[in-house]
Amino acid sequence: MEKKDNSNTQAVNLFGEIKKSSAKSKRPTKKEPRLDPRNKLNDLNGAEWQYWTKTVLNKQYPSNLQHKLRSQHGGQKPPMLCADLIKIFTKKNHKILDPLAGVGGSLLGAALCGRKAIGIELNKKWKDIYSEVCRLEGLEEFPIIIGDANDNLKDIKAESIDFIITDVPYWIMDQLKKTRSAAASRESKLSKFNAKDLQTKEEWLSEMKAIFENSKHTLKNNGYMAVFIGDMYRGKEFHFLSAELSRVISEIENFTLKSDIIWHDDSKMLHIYGYPFAYIPSMIHQHILIFRKEI
Ligand SMILES: C[S@@+](CC[C@H](N)C(=O)[O-])C[C@H]1O[C@@H](n2cnc3c(N)ncnc32)[C@H](O)[C@@H]1O
Repeated sequence: MEKKDNSNTQAVNLFGEIKKSSAKSKRPTKKEPRLDPRNKLNDLNGAEWQYWTKTVLNKQYPSNLQHKLRSQHGGQKPPMLCADLIKIFTKKNHKILDPLAGVGGSLLGAALCGRKAIGIELNKKWKDIYSEVCRLEGLEEFPIIIGDANDNLKDIKAESIDFIITDVPYWIMDQLKKTRSAAASRESKLSKFNAKDLQTKEEWLSEMKAIFENSKHTLKNNGYMAVFIGDMYRGKEFHFLSAELSRVISEIENFTLKSDIIWHDDSKMLHIYGYPFAYIPSMIHQHILIFRKEI
């Protein structure tokens, strides 16, 4: 007797993508849900849209796309995570901007999903690594302007960007990693993210605010902006950097906070902080603050 094929030809996989039916299946394939013609934001159908509105991404992204080379930076983001976010907020061929590009996690993400991109980065070393990754992976390379974002953003055409996605230096995290290490004299893997040494939190917040103020004109009206930020525990105190950063960005006219997506990075190793005397949290999540430019 012939076995029935009970596979669900329209199942949505973990990535929110429609699973293709097997080539062997004799059953007529149902059509994929059509894109709503009113959807000017992205290329997601209703089921995918619903999946991606969730506020927790509980996902470990693979250490691929020349991870070892990119990890010289120490603060690099998984390109596939960036591609997932880019697909929520753009359509094919839309253009993204990352004013703090590092080794280009967001630009690689854009190439993975058929979008265009432009970046700005202070340190040429990170741009060179990005170029090398593109070459080795055969991915489209987008321009990264070398210099301070605050000086270079004005040269980016007004309303030419569909989505800003960026990852700020986490206050004094790079210096902290160095001092916390047993080998304090060894150079931190995180290197130097900030233009300035050991800023106060207020100085850091106003520097970050300036970058977003200077980015605003590049974004189309009703376009979205995603900002990665991690909280930290320092000096016997929890620093809610995500809340503080979202407050200062919300002070910028026309930027409205729309969501806080938590990325739970399951690959993070747990250390025994504080044991057996006091509770100290192990930060295994990061925030992705979502803003919209509304005029
Ligand atoms: C957290 S890292 C971004 C990492 C990036 N998401 C990646 O995947 O590689 C922040 C980057 O911003 C850069 N940066 C800091 N201040 C800057 C500024 N004022 N202008 C341009 N780049 C800056 C740092 O050199 C650093 O590489």
